[in-house]
Amino acid sequence: MTTRLAGRTAVVTGAGAGFGAGIAERFALEGARVVCVDVDGEAAARIAARLPGGAVPLACDIADGASFARMVEDAVARAGPFDTIVNNAALSQKPSRIAKIAEADLDRLLAVNVKSFYHVAVHALPVLRRRGGGCVINIASVTAIRPRPGMCWYQATKAAVVSITQTMAAELAPDRIRVNAIAPSVGRTAMLDAMFGTDRGEPIDRMVATIPLGRLCEPADIAGAAVYLASDDASFVTGVILPVDGGRLVG
Ligand SMILES: NC(=O)c1ccc[n+]([C@@H]2O[C@H](COP(=O)([O-])OP(=O)(O)OC[C@H]3O[C@@H](n4cnc5c(N)ncnc54)[C@H](O)[C@@H]3O)[C@@H](O)[C@H]2O)c1
Repeated sequence: MTTRLAGRTAVVTGAGAGFGAGIAERFALEGARVVCVDVDGEAAARIAARLPGGAVPLACDIADGASFARMVEDAVARAGPFDTIVNNAALSQKPSRIAKIAEADLDRLLAVNVKSFYHVAVHALPVLRRRGGGCVINIASVTAIRPRPGMCWYQATKAAVVSITQTMAAELAPDRIRVNAIAPSVGRTAMLDAMFGTDRGEPIDRMVATIPLGRLCEPADIAGAAVYLASDDASFVTGVILPVDGGRLVG
């Protein structure tokens, strides 16, 4: 493994599972000090314990402003002022017609997937500004660009992530803060269980059939793209939505 992120300190949300755990692990292997944040504090602690470089686990509900503010304070106290934040944690929805989602579920989806970026702006960006610059990586979805039926509200939250990424990139460039997003296609994570339950063979097969490279997205695929965007190799890259989708957008 190289050390493309040596000397860096990164907060990764949703690091307790799936893509977030993959990003946290790869960042640590590349030399970064990692703060593993998850609403499931035990999951964050489990992942942090297996990373090199003294990773710090923190429990936080990113939808809750007070919880987010506490997390930023604790991250700075325990790992030092971070230069990178990966906004990865999110919820999905069960496939359903547009009007068939419960209002309370929609409110929670919007709070976790969209309102959390307000908390990032209020509480995390000042840490990057004080350092004189930094890097923000947001995890969107290829479905924000190419939607499917039945996932309206989840896809709308991810379209918001695309828009927030582009606006943040434009606003924050003078502060030397780069802001980019990764747009994964369907991945092999627990999110699939939340969407399809255990009876997921056939819907997954149908989705894989729409991906030219013929497989699901793995955490390592997203981690590799995140390392690039966080590294100095991407020092002139901002406002980009990078599909990591096996060609889904061109298939
Ligand atoms: N898996 C896919 O098919 C897929 C496809 C495209 C995009 N994405 C995006 O990738 C990202 C990661 O997805 P995943 O598949 O790894 O999900 P996952 O469900 O496997 O893991 C998400 C993690 O986030 C945590 N989390 C959930 N709500 C939280 C909150 N309020 N505060 C803090 N942590 C919270 C969970 O506890 C979990 O550890 C998400 O932004 C998702 O929308 C996933």
